[in-house]
Amino acid sequence: MVALRAKVFEKVNGDNAITFPNDQVGPDRFEELYSHPAANGRSKGAGLSDLFWYWLSPGPEVHQEHLEAGPRYDDVARTTRTFLAGPAEQLSAAAARCTAKVLDEVITKPVTHVRLRDLMMPIWAEYFYELVFGEPCPRAARDLIVGHADDVVTSLKCTGLRHPARRARLTRYLRTRLADVQHPLPDTLSPTEQVHYLQGTYFNTAVVQTSEGMAHLLLALAQHPEAAQRIHDDRYFAHVLDETFRLYPLFGIAHRITTADISLDEHTTFPAGSVLCFNYPAYHATGYENPHEFDPGRWEHTSARTAHHIPFGVAANRPCPAWRLSPIAMRAATREVLRRVTLHSSVTHTRSLPSRGPCLLVRDGSIPHGRLALMRMRDRWEDVWRSVVQLVLGTAMVLHAHRLRLASRYFETHQPQEIP
Ligand code: HEM
Repeated sequence: MVALRAKVFEKVNGDNAITFPNDQVGPDRFEELYSHPAANGRSKGAGLSDLFWYWLSPGPEVHQEHLEAGPRYDDVARTTRTFLAGPAEQLSAAAARCTAKVLDEVITKPVTHVRLRDLMMPIWAEYFYELVFGEPCPRAARDLIVGHADDVVTSLKCTGLRHPARRARLTRYLRTRLADVQHPLPDTLSPTEQVHYLQGTYFNTAVVQTSEGMAHLLLALAQHPEAAQRIHDDRYFAHVLDETFRLYPLFGIAHRITTADISLDEHTTFPAGSVLCFNYPAYHATGYENPHEFDPGRWEHTSARTAHHIPFGVAANRPCPAWRLSPIAMRAATREVLRRVTLHSSVTHTRSLPSRGPCLLVRDGSIPHGRLALMRMRDRWEDVWRSVVQLVLGTAMVLHAHRLRLASRYFETHQPQEIP
């Protein structure tokens, strides 16, 4: 089903994309190609962009990830760096506080059944609201943010359709709050674009990525209790996080459109306009012993700098601006969870995690064997019908995005930006 969905996407988008690592550019030259200065086109010229713009609306044209290089990109990237640059103790304390607040609301019974992604969403909605507005998040704003972020990630995973009206409610709210933002917003953007910048960066990407990352981390800890017991050691926590991101990277594939010819050597050239796809899980599975095993201990003798490990992208080509903040915040949140409950889950842990991570939060340290057996059966059953739903909804959205042509139309009517 997954392969069939990938084929439908490829056919409708019509790109002649090349996916790496492959026989031509193996793992040893993967980062060299990814880091190449001409591998820097982000949206213009790829059918795939219509689909991403569709999923990330409203305002994909000002989303940092999709902006072409140029003064506007520089302005937006500078603003994001300012927002994410707080002192570590402050970033950590805020994460612990937001986590505690939500857990106090949710954990009311000895054993609480949750989907980890759903548990995490309100925590990170509160957190990024505080980061943007510098004050505690009102409940109504939290609900708007969660409604929006959940809609984006659900449609991205093709487990539901997108709901523009739900997203527009947050846009309307943010429009009324523009004057209250903690830091100056990019002045190359109009007020409407500034609203879209806030919505896309902090209330979509930041909330979705941190919630997904936490769902993977907590699920891995639920299934590896020996690792959960050692999480108070900072060094060991870093190994667990490295291993979680290695095995379950948040990006399946990142793409670039070449803006000039690339020539790695006389046999390996890519003309301008090529669509290059960088496959994270495939790259992360090379260069390790037993790559499909979850083994935090491997990081005792492996350096994250030299290993095939790029959870936040490559430094030379638009890496994630939250590469410093995310581990700090995630560590504080994880400890806050494990201080209250032990985690148990019997579901299959996959990278895309369309199940949203079913898990039992147990207060008294017991092991709920019966409920875990039921959870396993239900997970297998859900897997079957969900893959059919994903194929049907995925195809419908790909066709809809192809009809709307959001990115293609934008570039037809806007002057291409200068690439320095
Ligand atoms: C666990 C957390 C996260 C992970 C693993 C992660 C991962 C990544 C990766 C791999 C990329 C590069 C993709 C590429 O090369 O195309 C990226 C880009 C980006 N991420 Fe994150 N991310 C995380 C959290 C966040 C958060 C909290 C924010 C909040 C603002 C954020 C904002 C962005 C932006 C704006 C970009 C585009 C950068 C650019 O093109 O200049 N990410 N992220």
